[in-house]
Order: sequence, then structure tokens, then C-alpha cells
Amino acid sequence: MPHVHHRIAPLAPAWESVLSRALGRRVEPSVLALLVSRQAARYRGEEVALAHGDELAARCLFWLPRDLPKSQYPTEELRLADALPRRPLRVLDVGSGLGTTALGVSLALPEGASLGELVSLERDPEALALQRRVWAEAANAGLVALPARHQTLARDLSEPGWDRDLGDFDLVTVGLCLVELLSALPEEHARGAGLAGWCERLLGLLRPEGALLVLEPGDRERSRVLQTARGVLLSRGVTVFAPCPQGGQCPLLAEPRDWCHEDLAALSLPPWLVPIAREAGLRWEGPTFSYLTLRRDGLTLAGCLKGPGERPARLVGVPEVSKGRTAAVACGAFGERPSALLVELHRHRGKAPTEPLEALPRGTVVLLAEDARPTEKGTLRLEPGVLRRR
Ligand SMILES: C[S@@+](CC[C@H](N)C(=O)[O-])C[C@H]1O[C@@H](n2cnc3c(N)ncnc32)[C@H](O)[C@@H]1O
Repeated sequence: MPHVHHRIAPLAPAWESVLSRALGRRVEPSVLALLVSRQAARYRGEEVALAHGDELAARCLFWLPRDLPKSQYPTEELRLADALPRRPLRVLDVGSGLGTTALGVSLALPEGASLGELVSLERDPEALALQRRVWAEAANAGLVALPARHQTLARDLSEPGWDRDLGDFDLVTVGLCLVELLSALPEEHARGAGLAGWCERLLGLLRPEGALLVLEPGDRERSRVLQTARGVLLSRGVTVFAPCPQGGQCPLLAEPRDWCHEDLAALSLPPWLVPIAREAGLRWEGPTFSYLTLRRDGLTLAGCLKGPGERPARLVGVPEVSKGRTAAVACGAFGERPSALLVELHRHRGKAPTEPLEALPRGTVVLLAEDARPTEKGTLRLEPGVLRRR
């Protein structure tokens, strides 16, 4: 196996008509761009008027196809590590909205695994009704396999007892929802502690070898809150399966200007959404987000991928090419250091059977020779053989 890339195919063009049929009404592109810009302002916390039906239209036609890869990505990592049971799974999607997170999961499940039972929990009954139509239309078009059993539950997470009688799950997902529950809290530490509390509650719904996927927005403020929550959870014995290849404090929290997040730059927006995003003044490049995959059984992505004598590390920046060399920041357990600057000299190329560093997208898990150590300044030279294949 070469370095561990995520291989997420671009969204099938048939999704455009599937979502339009599920919504049940035609929305002209210029109108959709307007609705999308209003909903985007609301996501930024601004008070903007938007009828509920129009909000659902913008979410169905724009955010759903834009955000699908966000849950595919961590599910793909569970698949690569063989860390999901290969059988029909019991899955809970919390704050499920139109079903985006579970739909993304279903597209990335390993062979032999399927959605045996999906419980979609959400406070908005209209969103749940639309979610059912999305699943039905997508399954009719052969884009997804319907869950064997699908339960939609209209419950409000802020009310006591929202988790009554749910049973236990192989996978719990909560996509871009906890951010909405934390917005009243004042700052990073309070929000981090609040988010950790939610994660602990959701971890309590897992079977012993289950996983919890938490997706949050990719901007600095919200990503830092997620990494703050990660520190709290680690101190309480929770396993961070991914993305982090080391178990210490997130090194990017040290500098207030830094934040760890994913940027699927290679995965541009589906072509039919690009003009909408441009007109609405939004990013039209690949999606950005932050996430944690949490478990209680001690299993980690890095531990699953690593062979004898190897040290896993994750590229947390885009490799930069300058004269004669390529450099990329990698997160990992480098002795006392939680990160290192990997430097590949171009004159060493071709001396080992590995891809050039700049061919590896951000987020790639690289496997390095364990005995290669960074210098005092934190630079690790990729001499031939340091960047390994498996
Ligand atoms: C941004 S949407 C994300 C939907 C979906 N998970 C996704 O990834 O696209 C957030 C969802 O969380 C739901 N939500 C927010 N607060 C909630 C609460 N207190 N109880 C239940 N659902 C809530 C909203 O109704 C909305 O559908």
C-alpha cells in the first residue's frame, strides 16, 4: 500500500435531478444563488429573513451535494483501517437535517457493511420529511442503497430525554450540528468543554467497538473549539481514532492564528454548483471542514496503518515546492515533538519507489522510517528510504 490517500470520487451528475425531484419544485439558478447567500449569512450568525421552505430548498440543492464528501472522508478512513464491522450496521445520525452525513457515510462503507438500521434524529419534522424523499429518489436512481430500516425521529437535543430508548449503535454521526448548540457559549474554552460534553454523551450510545464521527465547520474559530474539545476528551480516556496520529495536545492550538482543518482541494464543487457558489459569493473550490473520529476501544488510524519500524504522520499543510526542494508540515509523534517539517530534496528523487512529496494531498497519512529523527529545529530530511511504502 502506498501512502494513505482518501479516494473520494466526484459526485455523480445524476444527483442534480435527484435532489430537484426530492424537493418537488424547480428553483431558477439566480433565485437559488440568492437563497444560498441568505442561508450562508445565517450560518455566519447574521439575522437574515428567509422562509423555511426556501431555507430547505437552499440546503437540499446546494449544501447537501456540497457537503456529502465531508462524511465520506472519515468513513473512508474507518474502511482503510478495517475498523468498521462488515455487516449491516446500526447507525444514528444526530441533527441529521436532510440526511447529508448518513448519505455520505453510505457512499463510503466497506464491502460487506451496509446501513442495516438508520435512525435520523432531528428537531425539524419538515427536514425529516424531505430527507425521506432524498433517500427514496437517490435509491431510485441507483445512487445509494436504502437502509434496510429507516427511522426518522423528531426530537430536540436541548430537551431532556432526547436520547431515550435509542439503544446502542455501531456508528453515531453528528454533522455540522453541535456548532449550533454551542453558539450561546462565550469563548473557545467554554465551547470546547461544551462540545466535549456532547461527545461524551454520544459516545455513551456506542457499542464497545463503535465509532463516533463529529463534523464541524472548517473555519479557525470553530475548528479550534473542536481541537480544544479533543484535549478534554483525551484527558478523560477517549480514543481519538482520526485525524491525529499522536495523542498529545494539538500542536496548532499553541498559536492563536493556527487551526487544524481539512481542505479537500482536489475535490472541486460539482460543476452545476460552481456558478451558484460564485454568484452567492461563496467558496467554489473543494470543501473545508474539521472532524474527529472518536472511539472507546483504543483503536487508532495511525496504529492500524503502521507497519514494523514505521512512524505514521499526517500532512497538515499543502506541500510547498521551492528551489530544489519540497516541504510540508506533518503532525505525528516525533519524540518530544508533535510535528515536523518534512523536506524532500529533488536531487534524491527516483532513488526510492515513492511518489514525490508534492503529489501527496493535504491529509495524506505518510509512513516514515521510525529511526529518522527531526533536527533540533524540527526539520526531517526525507533521505532515500525515509518515506516508506508498505
Ligand atoms: C447545518 S444542519 C446540518 C445537517 C446535516 N447533519 C448535515 O451534515 O448536512 C444542522 C442541523 O441540526 C439541527 N439542529 C440544530 N439544533 C438542534 C436541536 N436542538 N435538536 C435537534 N436538531 C437540531 C438543525 O435543525 C439542522 O437540521
